[in-house]
Amino acid sequence: MHSLKILVTNQKGGVGKSTIAANLAAYLAIQENFKVNLIDFDKQSSSSRWISKAPDVGVTVHHAHLRYEDTGSLVLANAKRALNKFSVACDMSISDLTWTHAMSTEFMLEYDLILVPSAASKFEMASTEIFILEYVQKYLSQIQSRGQEICVVPSRVYQPFQSDHAFLNLQSVDHCSMAPSIFMVPAIDDFVYQDFLCVSSNEDVAKNFSRFGEHIAKLIKKIAMTKATLSKINGTMKRSSNISILDQYRAEQEQKRDEGPKAYSDWIPNFLIKK
Ligand SMILES: Nc1ncnc2c1ncn2[C@@H]1O[C@H](COP(=O)(O)OP(=O)(O)OP(=O)(O)O)[C@@H](O)[C@H]1O
Ligand SMILES: [Mg+2]
Repeated sequence: MHSLKILVTNQKGGVGKSTIAANLAAYLAIQENFKVNLIDFDKQSSSSRWISKAPDVGVTVHHAHLRYEDTGSLVLANAKRALNKFSVACDMSISDLTWTHAMSTEFMLEYDLILVPSAASKFEMASTEIFILEYVQKYLSQIQSRGQEICVVPSRVYQPFQSDHAFLNLQSVDHCSMAPSIFMVPAIDDFVYQDFLCVSSNEDVAKNFSRFGEHIAKLIKKIAMTKATLSKINGTMKRSSNISILDQYRAEQEQKRDEGPKAYSDWIPNFLIKK
């Protein structure tokens, strides 16, 4: 079975991408017992450092540093190669990547789930909306046929943040949804690189992150089911499209031959047969 691929990305810096990538990987490993790989595309290596320094929860770390000075097609090819190479022998991989325009948006199509952490200022929300809308507008049919999901994650937001009244331009977009907010909790600083947020000794920190983790775990199960249905449909379509009418005719003739000559009575309509 192919592993599920999750991307955590936004063009904006400091919105919590690495915090989310590292802690979601740990949540899915600890609470859901999934075998998770973390692919760190960022040179700062924040998410991979967190996984490596905190207690071992079975998440495997991979580094995939891209050379953005290469041509666009080479950057895309290298990114795809790294993603496929590091997404084996696991149930799912989580990529931590700061989005830049040097990367083709085609890369996002490689993923089953895209998480877009976003702060809640008007500026940041608008730029997140544009980022997602541009992508969806370009690739809607592929997103639908692959069953890909995009999920906005209000991150580092101050309580009470009403997510129902935010990101209004995304609310009717197919395959796009909103995760529960991850609130600004300064106490997070005590756990950076030390322990994972979902099991932290600070109840506010643990609750804050676990609510988000539970939501994503449900979304992952929904995506896995959609993918299974899609691959069944594709398999059936492929099988039937491989059989030409001529093949079908030959198969029927062969079956008739195997069954041997039919009894004479089989060819006579029922009402003509003497009772
Ligand atoms: N919910 C939160 N509450 C409080 N602080 C947070 C929260 N999430 C992240 N932080 C802090 O915000 C800072 C930026 O977080 P993080 O490094 O995860 O963001 P990033 O988007 O990966 O940044 P970069 O663009 O630099 O890679 C860090 O100091 C982190 O500890
Ligand atoms: Mg980061």
